[in-house]
Amino acid sequence: MTRYGILTSGGDCPGLNAVIRGIVLDREAEQHEYVGFLDGFKGLVYGDVMTLDRSVVRGIAKEGGTILRTSRFGPYSEPDGGPENIKKVLDRLGVEGVVCIGGDGTMAAANRLYEDGIPTVGVPKTIDNDLEATDYTFGFNTAVEIATEAVDRLRTTGNSHSRCMVLEVMGRHAGWIALYAGLAGGAHAILIPEAPESIEQVCAWVESVRDRGRAPMVVVAEGFTLPDMTEAYSDKGLDGFNRPRLGGIGEILAPIIEERTGIETRATVLGHIQRGGVPSAWDRVLGTRFGFAVPEMLDDGCWGQMLALRGMDIVRVPFADAVGHTKNVSMDLYREARGAFG
Ligand code: F6P
Repeated sequence: MTRYGILTSGGDCPGLNAVIRGIVLDREAEQHEYVGFLDGFKGLVYGDVMTLDRSVVRGIAKEGGTILRTSRFGPYSEPDGGPENIKKVLDRLGVEGVVCIGGDGTMAAANRLYEDGIPTVGVPKTIDNDLEATDYTFGFNTAVEIATEAVDRLRTTGNSHSRCMVLEVMGRHAGWIALYAGLAGGAHAILIPEAPESIEQVCAWVESVRDRGRAPMVVVAEGFTLPDMTEAYSDKGLDGFNRPRLGGIGEILAPIIEERTGIETRATVLGHIQRGGVPSAWDRVLGTRFGFAVPEMLDDGCWGQMLALRGMDIVRVPFADAVGHTKNVSMDLYREARGAFG
């Protein structure tokens, strides 16, 4: 019997439980055993585990969040982190390798552990969909559905009051959620981190919408910057991976738009609503398929690799292909959308 560990790290997202279930439904179950490390890499560093068997994962694919809980605790965090301690933990628990389910920060940490001799593999997740080497991450589809519903709802109230409505969605480095939800909801301007736009341009779009008798709808990603901003707006300090906690650009833009255009403007920050709740069918399927692919990957000893979706296929890629660069919205795609702004 070979024993493997599973952990979920970084921001949670809908579909994590589908992956965990997919792994534990392992067709080679009589040869493999699984434990879950609790609270992300913290559980790995402190050997905090729970048993994972079929009874534990029954019915969880449709549940949001993660039964293993998560954190932004880095595996090299002082005073107890680092490969030497983690090796001891794995030896004590009889765990042969670790499945790390997470986004860019988690994959970078898993890669570093792998390079330091800890056997790790990765499964990509993030609502931001910004992980290189995979066409899509699970969580993104659910977040887009939620953000689209928010756009639809804001448009009815905006229309009633002839107001400009600004919706801020997540998207630290990449504007995928803003772009998809904005296109789906027919937003009049979509502002993303990849494409700074001047306040004059934003206001020109807003005014042209008002001038033809419509209520302007602006969708902005949290990582969007105006040309004179050197970094994304943040007033909430740093997160556990030492990155600025973003959020608030919508509240900055709304009064400026109101002052410059004379159009009454309201901002809504969608926040963690995008990450919570039940996963869409699409995210459950993708998460489950990733989970199904893990046991064979472990048997094949594919340490240092991550699963990815390419077209309809689940493939394996080296961590190095996924970390260190963001999968951004292409300027062709943005220009396609921008042509209809205003
Ligand atoms: O990385 C995913 C993400 O949802 C980002 O879009 C956002 O900036 C961040 O997580 C928020 O993290 P937290 O839950 O720690 O506030």
